[in-house]
Amino acid sequence: MTSDTARQTLLRVATAQLQAADIPSPLWEARFLLCDCDGITPTDIITYPDHPVDNPSKFQEWVARRASGEPLSRITGQRNFWGLDFKVSPTTLDPRMDSEVLVRETLALIPNDQKCEIADIGTGTGCLLLAILHERPNARGIGLDISAEALATARSNADRLGLADHARFEESNWLSVLQAQSIDVLISNPPYIVRAEIDHLDPAVRNYDPILALDGGPDGLDAYRAIIDAAPKVLRPGGWIALEIGWDQGESVPNLLNSAGFLRISCFKDTSGHDRVVLGQMPDRA
Ligand SMILES: C[S@@+](CC[C@H](N)C(=O)[O-])C[C@H]1O[C@@H](n2cnc3c(N)ncnc32)[C@H](O)[C@@H]1O
Repeated sequence: MTSDTARQTLLRVATAQLQAADIPSPLWEARFLLCDCDGITPTDIITYPDHPVDNPSKFQEWVARRASGEPLSRITGQRNFWGLDFKVSPTTLDPRMDSEVLVRETLALIPNDQKCEIADIGTGTGCLLLAILHERPNARGIGLDISAEALATARSNADRLGLADHARFEESNWLSVLQAQSIDVLISNPPYIVRAEIDHLDPAVRNYDPILALDGGPDGLDAYRAIIDAAPKVLRPGGWIALEIGWDQGESVPNLLNSAGFLRISCFKDTSGHDRVVLGQMPDRA
């Protein structure tokens, strides 16, 4: 006889609960939560459907949180980005797939075997910097953030990914701790939401991503101004800047780069066809 805590029984109840809450793909999500909760694989569920769930109350609590709209990654504390597993915490942005465009375009600037010093401004989980360092063994990087708690998460991600010798993390207001002409490639996905629009964001963003990661000031450009003003001092001649932007910032941010003296400014789109990343290069020494 199947028990009340059998995997298939609790999965059936959880799926119905998620479906009633209009969660997309309720069966898939219920399975995902069960696998993460009990440390099992989907194959384990199929092979041993009558096996009791190890942590039934934890699983039921997770399902209730998901039914109330909490993102999966906030519940499990994990997010896959660039094929790597990152810890997320309440003080970090939940890494977005769109940000992989910035990783891809930055990698295109750095030949495979080249030594290179990268700075990631507003590093959060460290996902951008660590994904790049994972692909470029001769590169080294520094991740900066104003949030000491976010930096603790980034350090733990570097440890878990075996990149602690390649990346260091420091508390900093934008670029303030960086030395003059010390950086080859400066990357950032800064907060860029117009302040007045924050209250109208999807609740899954508004209620769970930290405000420090979202608030771009009255016109969404405060962080870009701070970073782009300071970047020419810390970049080496010929160095690059790569910035993630909001879908409607494909003119304003390139204009800021242009005014600061950057050359070869170009914009790249995400998979939805929206402007997502802007690159610019410092002039080479004459
Ligand atoms: C949009 S999140 C990006 C996080 C991560 N790089 C990513 O792409 O998932 C922006 C980050 O900027 C940080 N931040 C906000 N104000 C800052 C400041 N004045 N100096 C440095 N970092 C700041 C936030 O704490 C947050 O981690």
